[in-house]
Amino acid sequence: MGRAFVYVIVGGGVAAGYAALEFTRKGVSDGELCIISDEPVAPYERPALSKGFLLPEDPTRLPSFHTCVGANDEILTPKWYKEHGIELVLGTRVKSVDARRLTLVTSTGETITYNFLIIATGARALKLEEFGVEGSDAENVCYLRDLSDADRLATVIQSSSNGNAVVIGGGYIGMECAASLVINKINVTMVLAGAHCSKYSPLLLENLVSVWLCLTFFSFSMTVARLFTPKIATFYEDYYMGKGVKFIKGTVLTSFEFDSDKKVTAVNLKDGNQLPADLVVVGIGIRPNISLFEGQLTIEKGGIKVNSQMQSSESSVYAIGDVATFPVKLYGEMRRLEHVDFARKSARHAVSAIMEPEKTGEFDYLPCFYSRFFAFSWQFYGDHVGEVVHFGEYEDGEVFGAYWVKEGHLVGCFLEGGTKEQYETISKATQLKPAVTDMEELEREGLGFTQTV
Ligand code: FDA
Repeated sequence: MGRAFVYVIVGGGVAAGYAALEFTRKGVSDGELCIISDEPVAPYERPALSKGFLLPEDPTRLPSFHTCVGANDEILTPKWYKEHGIELVLGTRVKSVDARRLTLVTSTGETITYNFLIIATGARALKLEEFGVEGSDAENVCYLRDLSDADRLATVIQSSSNGNAVVIGGGYIGMECAASLVINKINVTMVLAGAHCSKYSPLLLENLVSVWLCLTFFSFSMTVARLFTPKIATFYEDYYMGKGVKFIKGTVLTSFEFDSDKKVTAVNLKDGNQLPADLVVVGIGIRPNISLFEGQLTIEKGGIKVNSQMQSSESSVYAIGDVATFPVKLYGEMRRLEHVDFARKSARHAVSAIMEPEKTGEFDYLPCFYSRFFAFSWQFYGDHVGEVVHFGEYEDGEVFGAYWVKEGHLVGCFLEGGTKEQYETISKATQLKPAVTDMEELEREGLGFTQTV
């Protein structure tokens, strides 16, 4: 025998936290909602793990970054869930789901039934082993996806002061971790498979296994051009080099050297380089956690296919956040996005669609992504396809950016160092897809262009 709920959320990350708040705002009753998470803590703002959490002084710690502080909203502590009659089942994995029969079984053996299920299982970090490299279990090889990873990385950082770190991958995890390592007085070498750092981490196309993985799970990531243009990437890389970071490009990790305690002492690269390492951070991409639903729900582009109400191929089952492949109305195509803003907004939309279906329109989402490292902070809106026009002060590095123009319309905008108002303006302008007739004029107008839209 088990319990029954009206609403169950599987997964207790960013999307689950924002969904919980939305449920209370829409009037969920005591005992109707249950969240099941294999993490031991209430939902938190995952992006904090590669930023404030790794600082040497006054690092960010829970409860200060529980959701929904990232959207300047209430901080939902375990007490908040209790006070709102929400059952928070922590440290418990959902082992199986029967999407048709509306039941699931947890790692404690409990069977739970529901009327509506929201899948918010997020993603896991890709492991080196999946690319044919052994050694991920060494105590000084770190990944960064959840709080336990972050705790471990923070501990290894403490014991590696003035030592050497190798960061594998130049995506946002690699870039943000490298900055934190420098701030912690660690010498950093970044190993990039491609020519530049980018928002998307370069995948290690080393063997057949990786090719298969890429084709199966990353068709979307593979087809999008890298977000950082060479000019943007060069700006940030020059800054990192000024901080002592070394870049080794166009090669990949092939193996580790270990000491007698099975700690990594060096990494071997395909180009023949051997780099001494007290600490290795691996950020080579993620894989959505969809295995519970394969064979039960329609899967597309590596995620659970949902409609514009975030509803899957089973009408009682919804998917939000990193696992959902949804229709981007603005571009007329299906996409899966691994961004916190999407996790928050898709969560709110799904709850609204479940609780107030007649009042909930189509999800009209403008893709948005941000990152912060050192004193830099950027935001990107829209799509990075078509021709690029750069604007602003790349020399002094204060406010600069780029527009993407496709078929005569502005479709994307990147801005470093903007104010809150400027980010709002570029977001609104990008959503409107204004016509661009003269690229030189656009370059001359720079940021001012979006104010005229
Ligand atoms: P999320 O991963 O947050 O939550 C999924 C939850 O489900 C986890 O708690 C997981 O343990 C649990 N779970 C999975 N399977 C389960 C099962 N079978 N049973 C029970 N529980 C299960 N984005 C951005 O736009 N800007 C940024 O700067 C950053 N920075 C950043 C830093 C770091 C370190 C990471 C790891 C990620 C980011 N992101 C980001 C990405 C962003 O955090 C991510 O898109 C959201 O966390 C996605 O939210 P979800 O709720 O979908 O997954």
